[in-house]
Amino acid sequence: MEVVIVQDATAGGELIAESIATLLRRKRDALIGVATGSSPLPIYQALTAKVASGAVDASGARIAQLDEYVGLPAGHPESYRSVVLREVVRPLGLDESAFMGPDGSADDILAACEAYDRALAAAGGVDLQLLGIGTDGHIGFNEPVSSLASRTRIKTLTEQTRVDNARFFEGDIEQVPHHVITQGIGTILEARHLVLLATGEGKAEAVAQTVEGPLAALVPASALQLHPHATVVVDEAAASKLKLADYYRATFAAKPEWQGL
Ligand code: GLP
Repeated sequence: MEVVIVQDATAGGELIAESIATLLRRKRDALIGVATGSSPLPIYQALTAKVASGAVDASGARIAQLDEYVGLPAGHPESYRSVVLREVVRPLGLDESAFMGPDGSADDILAACEAYDRALAAAGGVDLQLLGIGTDGHIGFNEPVSSLASRTRIKTLTEQTRVDNARFFEGDIEQVPHHVITQGIGTILEARHLVLLATGEGKAEAVAQTVEGPLAALVPASALQLHPHATVVVDEAAASKLKLADYYRATFAAKPEWQGL
């Protein structure tokens, strides 16, 4: 696992956007897995700016969604489908046909989950998966004690996650769905490159457990330890509980630029 400590969220967004741009220059139809929440927004803004300036052509990019609420009416502004279309797909000038995600309003949720895993595989697999992290260490919506081998499936949110996400629902926890569809941890681990961005002190404990704690279902993000190409980008605040922070800094500072993330 590579840990990169950046000054702030903007710098993290720029670094990761450049990594996506490099991927798209090499593979113009790369499948980019995107996460929702506040953390990845600087990545999408930086990537959009690169597209606007002509630094990268993203017109062949394909976008895959990580997770989704169950039961929100189609087109609800806070459904993750709506969020990804609004924050990523449209700003990059992509057509909806370049986007894939699980159907949270399906009558048969089980079938929708299996269909999404099949669709990801049929699309050739995710090239680069962006991740955030929940305060309880979740990735996607894989809450603590999720199977580390899990596939896309329905999950029940913890009270903490519903509290954390209430800000997207007028601060009203009652509006936050209890159930979600998420790519499983096993599904996520199939992506060729995992890039997790965490910012702010509220993520420091979860980041420390993810990077330096034991591999444990209790901390779903610790599954990144199993991946051959996992990058964790953190700002100073989110890095504040890392024991080997100086080592990560020195390693990145000495890294040849051609290596990228
Ligand atoms: C939600 C999403 C996750 C995201 C997490 C943290 O639970 N399902 O993918 O990583 O929120 O969000 P934020 O980045 O806003 O803290």
